[in-house]
Amino acid sequence: MDVHFGEVDWENIDDSHDPEQYIEYLDSVSDTQWAKEAKEYSYRALRPNEGDRILDLGCGIGVDVDGLAEYVGETGTVVGADKSESMVEEARKRYGDRENTRFVTDDGIELSFSRDEFDRSRTSRVLQHVSRPKVAIQELKRVTRSGGLIWAVEPDWEMYLLDAPNSEIGSDIMEPQFVPVQHPSIGRKLYRLFSESGFDDIETNAHTVTIADAEKATLSFRLKPRLKAMIETGLISQDEAEQWLMEIKQASENEQFLAAGTAFTVVARVPHRTD
Ligand SMILES: C[S@@+](CC[C@H](N)C(=O)[O-])C[C@H]1O[C@@H](n2cnc3c(N)ncnc32)[C@H](O)[C@@H]1O
Repeated sequence: MDVHFGEVDWENIDDSHDPEQYIEYLDSVSDTQWAKEAKEYSYRALRPNEGDRILDLGCGIGVDVDGLAEYVGETGTVVGADKSESMVEEARKRYGDRENTRFVTDDGIELSFSRDEFDRSRTSRVLQHVSRPKVAIQELKRVTRSGGLIWAVEPDWEMYLLDAPNSEIGSDIMEPQFVPVQHPSIGRKLYRLFSESGFDDIETNAHTVTIADAEKATLSFRLKPRLKAMIETGLISQDEAEQWLMEIKQASENEQFLAAGTAFTVVARVPHRTD
């Protein structure tokens, strides 16, 4: 079996020789029942009104821009901004013909939008990849009007675990050092980052997802890039990694596999500006 473990750099997708693998990952995650429910919940948490202008920073393939478009109606606009041209192109291909959506290439740490341009902003699973997440939060605050709401979700990769029979790899692989993100424990820090950035009415919550299907967990929990990192540090061989993937597939067929992970959300209000 020839397993391609892939390369992962979410802040620079356009430098990849294979942007498709990122699209495939986003599709696999948004296709889960958990994600669909979480997405609906996230739209309501923003309390959108008809006519609102909403920004989705790091919109990826545009699923949430499309979801929110229903809430703002014909008089509102939902803008999806993403650093990656490939993502923006894909989002336009899928949802670009909606009158009330727009997709643009932009960098979260230096947004090209004006102050107060939006009534609401959101960002989902992006800050973990951004070199300076606090700057991105301040940028969201700048472009959202006083009294407007900002919603964010980030996983905490130190709160991911799995159970499979007889496997040392199974415990080592969940070590945060093997996760291909810049800030693996940002989930738990989200509340503090918003507090330090001067928001009002900050509410926070945590959600745990469980996955008993090994193939789904392999994609959603980034098990292949983790295995690749373990191979590169000399902990395991390619053969052992491939063997383990077959073992967990078999284990899940026998209902002996479980993976779980926790993500944190924050919703916060932009205070009245004094300047
Ligand atoms: C894991 S995906 C999340 C996509 C989508 N928000 C979702 O929840 O399905 C991370 C996205 O953030 C984008 N991204 C990474 N760094 C960024 C930055 N500095 N500014 C804007 N987007 C960025 C990536 O291009 C990618 O589309």
